[in-house]
Amino acid sequence: MKKTRIGIIGASGRAILAKHWHETHGDIAEVVAAVDVSEKSLADFRSWAGADAWTGSDYRELLKRPDLDAIGVFTPDRFHEEHALAVLASGKALYLEKPMSLSTEACDRILAAWRTSGVPFMMGFNLRYHPVVMAARAAIQAGKIGNVKAIWVHHFVGAGGDFYYHDWHANREGVHSLLLQKASHDLDVIHWLGGAYGVRAAAFGDLDYFGGDKPDDLTCPPCSIRETCREEQAPENPRQQCVFRQSVDVEDNQVVILRLANGVKASYTQCHFTPEYVRHYNVIGDQGRIEFFLERAQLWFYPRPAKTRDWPTPPPREELPLAPASSADDGHGGADGQIAAGFLRYLRDGVPPNTSPEAGRMSVAVGCAAVASLREGRIVEVPPMSV
Ligand SMILES: NC(=O)c1ccc[n+]([C@@H]2O[C@H](COP(=O)([O-])OP(=O)(O)OC[C@H]3O[C@@H](n4cnc5c(N)ncnc54)[C@H](O)[C@@H]3O)[C@@H](O)[C@H]2O)c1
Repeated sequence: MKKTRIGIIGASGRAILAKHWHETHGDIAEVVAAVDVSEKSLADFRSWAGADAWTGSDYRELLKRPDLDAIGVFTPDRFHEEHALAVLASGKALYLEKPMSLSTEACDRILAAWRTSGVPFMMGFNLRYHPVVMAARAAIQAGKIGNVKAIWVHHFVGAGGDFYYHDWHANREGVHSLLLQKASHDLDVIHWLGGAYGVRAAAFGDLDYFGGDKPDDLTCPPCSIRETCREEQAPENPRQQCVFRQSVDVEDNQVVILRLANGVKASYTQCHFTPEYVRHYNVIGDQGRIEFFLERAQLWFYPRPAKTRDWPTPPPREELPLAPASSADDGHGGADGQIAAGFLRYLRDGVPPNTSPEAGRMSVAVGCAAVASLREGRIVEVPPMSV
């Protein structure tokens, strides 16, 4: 079987995944072309893909190439709809980073185009390939905690100032909300572990720490208070906009409650100015509880006692083994290496991926419902899939 030939749109940042295809799986795949609006990103791409790799600034030229089997879309969120629709129209397979797009309606347009095209399409939900999440799902599916009834997720985004408030992530125009950009993974994991999609959402949220009265063109290097500013970026960091600039308008502290179609009650909290960076999950069934800290690669099972009146303190717990990872150094605890391999297995061997376009749409639909709730002060029904 010939090598799978891949092109990418967006050649730096998250395009690190394309390096897995090209290097780790170089025997079966090669990344031979890239489009980006930044010459520096294209130069970085050529440094690992080879000096003779094709590079350009117009994705239409990339999509005209008959030698490409698949396209990875690694551009910022606001371009996902345009790029995904163009790839699907070209008849090439699509790998699309999360979130699927910035609105439920845009996701429905992508879903409709995919169904017409019939090409392979995989959403970049790498947490579905995370060794902790996969092990938690396997334990739940094996009946370890009985029927799932509640899921609680605390998301401590201690690096919020670095990853979310120094560039395009901090503006509604670029992300709509961090309940799409950041939470789309966790809303999706809630759906995956809970066994159903969200149907009703309510949320509260504010911009409590970032944003402010600094000019929009202020960056860290010339800033007069950079020495004492907690949020100063290292000089080599590409994200340098001031986190306290006037145009920052996405909430940094939010609480979501959700009802899934099967009656599971879920809550998700996200705060961008915590001292640490960790996701803490609890999944509660009628026979026990599963708890995990994603970034610490720890997974525990707490069985309910045979008799509630014998309630032991502390409750007994069992540490569960994690699913295999290629290597924790592969990014996101090994999930990046696994999802890169999963995309190639899907294309070459027809192995169904752990993710789906429908899951991509529902994560955005729930995120948008939660955003509408917190910005408009009402409980919001999640629109069901219409295509
Ligand atoms: N699954 C994950 O764990 C994960 C992690 C990080 C980012 N992401 C997703 O990856 C995507 C990219 O994020 P990033 O942090 O790499 O962004 P980024 O700002 O670093 O941009 C990525 C690249 O896209 C290029 N680009 C911007 N606009 C373009 C356009 N119109 N056409 C072509 N190229 C363009 C930029 O020049 C840059 O090289 C986002 O949608 C984000 O949500 C996913």
